[in-house]
Amino acid sequence: MVRRKSYLYGLVSFLLALVVVSACAPNPRLQLISPNMVVVAEGETFVPPTPTPRPRIAPLSDEEILAGLPEGVAARIPGDAERGLSLTVPHNCIGCHVTDNSLVDVAPTWSEVADTAVGRAQQLGLAGPAMYLYRSIMEPNVYIVSGYTSDVMPDTYSVDLSEQDIADILTYLLTLRAE
Ligand code: HEC
Repeated sequence: MVRRKSYLYGLVSFLLALVVVSACAPNPRLQLISPNMVVVAEGETFVPPTPTPRPRIAPLSDEEILAGLPEGVAARIPGDAERGLSLTVPHNCIGCHVTDNSLVDVAPTWSEVADTAVGRAQQLGLAGPAMYLYRSIMEPNVYIVSGYTSDVMPDTYSVDLSEQDIADILTYLLTLRAE
């Protein structure tokens, strides 16, 4: 009887140890969901997390930043960043996006979004960061930032925004970068 009990205790503590060990094992998905390392998926294809050190927009030339943008839009950049900022109110961008790092899970933060866009463009093989921002606004369901779902951001901006509007919004977003 006694031997049987200690066998049971042994088994139970072994199972407990197993649970503890597996709970402590590193979760390979963890880095995918950390806010600073969100990945972008096109359709179902995930691209690797933003590399560290994080790419920055500051070293890029204007040409490198604007590469791949439709000509009519690129010709209007730099536009009016102040106007771009004010357009984010009636178009409700700031109803979902914040410009700081406060924990908001409705939409990806715009904190340093210009730098973020450099990494995303690299991951996706796009010509430049402005083009990534442009497409994220005009066709929001093409590239889905991991951790978020499609069909949340309105896909009406390509109709609602004029070339000047989108150029001004891009000019504003491109100012949101590390000091
Ligand atoms: C109803 C909420 C909502 C509104 C309004 C909205 N967005 Fe978004 N936005 C999202 C979500 C959710 C995502 C992430 C999913 C995706 O990639 O489409 C996103 C993604 C983006 C991205 C890509 C960010 C990144 O980190 O890669 C940009 C840029 C962006 N939005 C700009 C805008 C602009 C500009 C407006 C206004 C003209 C706007 N959004 C309005 C919800 C919103």
